[in-house]
Amino acid sequence: MHNAHCPSPCSNFETTEMLTRRRLLAQLLLVTLYGALVSSEHLLEPGYSISTVLDFNKPLPSAGLDVSGIIPFALHPLTRSPNLLLLLDSSNSAFYSLDLPLSQESHIRLLSGNGTTGFSDGDAISTMFKRPRSFAVDYNDNVYVADRITHVIRKINGHSGVTTTIAGGYTQKEGHTDGSAQNATFSADFDLLFMHKMCSLLICDRGNRMIRQMDLKPEDCEEKPQSSKGLGAIPVSVIAAVALLCGLGLGFIARPFVTSSSTTGSLREPLHTPLTESNPNNSDETSTDALLRHQKRSC
Ligand SMILES: *[C@@H]1O[C@H](CO)[C@@H](O)[C@H](O)[C@H]1NC(C)=O
Repeated sequence: MHNAHCPSPCSNFETTEMLTRRRLLAQLLLVTLYGALVSSEHLLEPGYSISTVLDFNKPLPSAGLDVSGIIPFALHPLTRSPNLLLLLDSSNSAFYSLDLPLSQESHIRLLSGNGTTGFSDGDAISTMFKRPRSFAVDYNDNVYVADRITHVIRKINGHSGVTTTIAGGYTQKEGHTDGSAQNATFSADFDLLFMHKMCSLLICDRGNRMIRQMDLKPEDCEEKPQSSKGLGAIPVSVIAAVALLCGLGLGFIARPFVTSSSTTGSLREPLHTPLTESNPNNSDETSTDALLRHQKRSC
């Protein structure tokens, strides 16, 4: 190393290099020896036991569904349906739900994926995935699938069971473009994590060596079953309180605005204000916020 910089005494370069090589060899030997010593230490903690609760090599009650070829790849619990377990069969590009507790008699239902490898959205048996390996589940049991080979993110709606493409739908190619989700691109190797606190999916984009974030819709992060009208109740009550403070007259003025904003049905609508307090991405100010501020100013 030192020799590389010296201008004059480089005549003994070769011998120094040989010395360095010998030192390296010795160090390598030491590291190997140390590694061998360390890896031979096993702390065997007793007290656990293992049993097979579901064996796909044995006959299973099929109920019209061909379950003989299932190769379990990954499992995930469901929040809304705590008595079900989600199973991904990556090789056969299909998601199943299993009844809990697991047994050889556990009911197996197809959640999505007709077993053919491909890219097609729709209901459980129209949908095709391309051997996905990673998925995330939100509090409404919506399943977000990292369909890595197609470079898209799919969503299996936990309520309707319909599968849609939520990211990369236009592009369907490899890349690392951010922005509008349908125009975004992903590598061929990425993982998903549902982050309730941020109401988002974190994309561990291995292929691009990046962690990326996809903001979800507020409804995906609602913990309790609520109708769209139930959601609307929160800001309306807030507005009512503000209106009371400001005087009844303003309340009457605000009413038509509130009614019109909650009937549009747009998912970017204001009705999630209390949920997104901690969300750093609050760039799009909702109309209710604007309305509230407007009222406060006029107080
Ligand atoms: C996304 O892609 C579509 C189809 O190529 C195009 O029409 C649209 O303008 C793109 N949107 C953005 C924001 O780039």
